Amino acid sequence: MISALAMTLCNLSVVPAASAAEPVKIGFLVKQAEEPWFQDEWRFAEQAAHEKGFTLVKIGVPNGEKMIAAIDNLAAQKAQGFVICAPDVKLGIAVERAAKRNGLKAMSVDDQLVDGSGKPISSIPHMGISAYEIGKQVGLGLVDEMKVRGWKMTEVGAMRLAFDQLPTARERTQGAVDALKAAGFPVANIVDATQAKTDTESAFNAANIALTKHAQFKHWVVFDMNDEAVLGTIRATEGRGLRSDAVIGIGIGGSKTALNEFAKPSPTGFYGTVLISPKRHGYETAMNMYKWITENKVPAAVTLTTGTLMTRVNQTEVRAQFGL
Ligand code: GLA
Repeated sequence: MISALAMTLCNLSVVPAASAAEPVKIGFLVKQAEEPWFQDEWRFAEQAAHEKGFTLVKIGVPNGEKMIAAIDNLAAQKAQGFVICAPDVKLGIAVERAAKRNGLKAMSVDDQLVDGSGKPISSIPHMGISAYEIGKQVGLGLVDEMKVRGWKMTEVGAMRLAFDQLPTARERTQGAVDALKAAGFPVANIVDATQAKTDTESAFNAANIALTKHAQFKHWVVFDMNDEAVLGTIRATEGRGLRSDAVIGIGIGGSKTALNEFAKPSPTGFYGTVLISPKRHGYETAMNMYKWITENKVPAAVTLTTGTLMTRVNQTEVRAQFGL
């Protein structure tokens, strides 16, 4: 006869996984639902949902309050886990607590969550881009294109759109700065413009101030954390009468923001982007969460994805390589 105590112990030893009868529901929470990158991530996460037959709950979480409400709401809807790109990585502990309180599995995408001292939270598996390496690719792309155009580096300003409180943003632009320096670009010509937020309008405003302050440069190279910021900067240079022959901007992303720019009849200062994979970030994270829930397979602690330089010229091939 199995005693009640033995039954309880037996139950306790079983790691909770969704039972076969329980429909799987996974949240996918993103900080900027209006940004094409995040829409692409959602689209690929939907693909995983479709394949495996689980429900994907997509929620935009532009601030901490909405984020906590969304996590609580997921639990009320009987979800078992969620993937999140939080509005601020410093909300890491809050995410961890909300997940625990509600018995939800959590993993982060794009922006790795940190604790009060700025250390990544190890209990939350993460998939992000290899930020520094991709930043270096941006810098090398700028150097190569300056050479093609025969620009004298002493006459070129390099504008770094900065959002340094976000580690992945800081690492990306640091990679680009280091590649420029390694190629002999004059350090004094590197100008920082700080974005208040990570969107096109904030970049436009920050770039305008920097362009006013540094009107001495004949040419500009432009880089930052993503395509949206490069786009804002390019629009600011255009406002100053600087055309595509005077500006080289390389972003990071490669979704609609870049594609729309490439689709214009004549080239703009938005020369290129390092294409990263919304498919991996959307499909794979959702799939990993599904396996965690149904097979108790814990995702890798950290997965870093790579990118490839894409321009108007090679966009079709590069996108095809990424399964896009
Ligand atoms: C951050 C940026 C996004 C995108 C992702 C890619 O979250 O805000 O625009 O670049 O990283 O991981």
